[in-house]
Amino acid sequence: MPIRPARPRRSVLYVPASNERALAKVAALSCDAVIVDLEDAVAPQAKAAAREAMRAFVAGRPSGGPEIAVRINPLASPWGTDDLLAARAARPDAILLPKVEGPRDILDADDALDETDAPPQLALWAMIETPRAVLNLGALAELARDAAARLCCFVAGTNDLVKETGVRATPDRRYLSPWLMQIVLCARAAGIDALDGVGNDFRDLDAFARECAEGRNMGFDGKTLIHPAQIEPANRAFSPDAEEVAEARAVVAAFAAPENAGKGVIRIDGRMVERLHLAQAERLLARAGEPGPRVDLQQG
Ligand code: COA
Ligand code: MG
Repeated sequence: MPIRPARPRRSVLYVPASNERALAKVAALSCDAVIVDLEDAVAPQAKAAAREAMRAFVAGRPSGGPEIAVRINPLASPWGTDDLLAARAARPDAILLPKVEGPRDILDADDALDETDAPPQLALWAMIETPRAVLNLGALAELARDAAARLCCFVAGTNDLVKETGVRATPDRRYLSPWLMQIVLCARAAGIDALDGVGNDFRDLDAFARECAEGRNMGFDGKTLIHPAQIEPANRAFSPDAEEVAEARAVVAAFAAPENAGKGVIRIDGRMVERLHLAQAERLLARAGEPGPRVDLQQG
């Protein structure tokens, strides 16, 4: 199985490679990752110049800055192969494949990367934004279990899903939710990350915070963003809050208490707590940057 990233992917900002001012802003932003976009955000006549801007940006990335993915055009498009080769040469952390329909699209990109001796750390992320991608999520998850496939993140493309299916984009996303949940489930089956789709209205930050909370409740690892104003709400929503940290600490402390040594199930404040909750609590504390004392999970 692929290795889960050491860094979180709470806030993942799209930056059009054709937008010089936006690219220049990235160094000052506190997002966990950026997606330098060569695809939907770049007009056909600007594709070649955007590819050159991407090269310069990725080559000049500061060390310790955000994780960088490059979203290329589909390999079947006139720009896809040149994009893939340019991205591979620029050495981002990941290449994001748009309009993925099934495992063949990942394997084609793998073959092209292997032919250029791309390092094994160069990851592939997959946009899940077509009806066939949703239908093929199970097969994509199976493929992702093989580290050689490089696939380590599903990215929900909600605007394209709305366009391709005709569902209405209601504020509560009720018609998209079944597909979003399927993305999360299949990411978990594969042991990879899942990122929620974008919120288009970057001026309504209250609505955006609600959508972040919803994505977090659905189990997503983070959210894709279109505007710097969305970074802080996403970081907040996808970080454990103070109450969750306190609860997790209480669970870890209870299992570490001498009177509970060797017990598989205990009670805290009238609630049943099992060792699976201890594992969950330890994961949450690790996400909050607080590993805490380890208790032997095999015990009891
Ligand atoms: N990344 C980095 N910086 C960004 C940014 C982004 N995605 N979006 C806006 N900014 C910058 C702007 O350049 C501007 O900085 P400046 O004053 O130094 O020029 C500042 O943030 C404020 O921007 P604002 O005026 O509020 O918005 P805008 O009109 O410049 O841009 C969009 C609005 C929607 C065009 C722009 O946010 C954007 O292109 N987003 C990404 C779209 C995308 O990639 N879509 C594909 C995936 S869905
Ligand atoms: Mg798209």
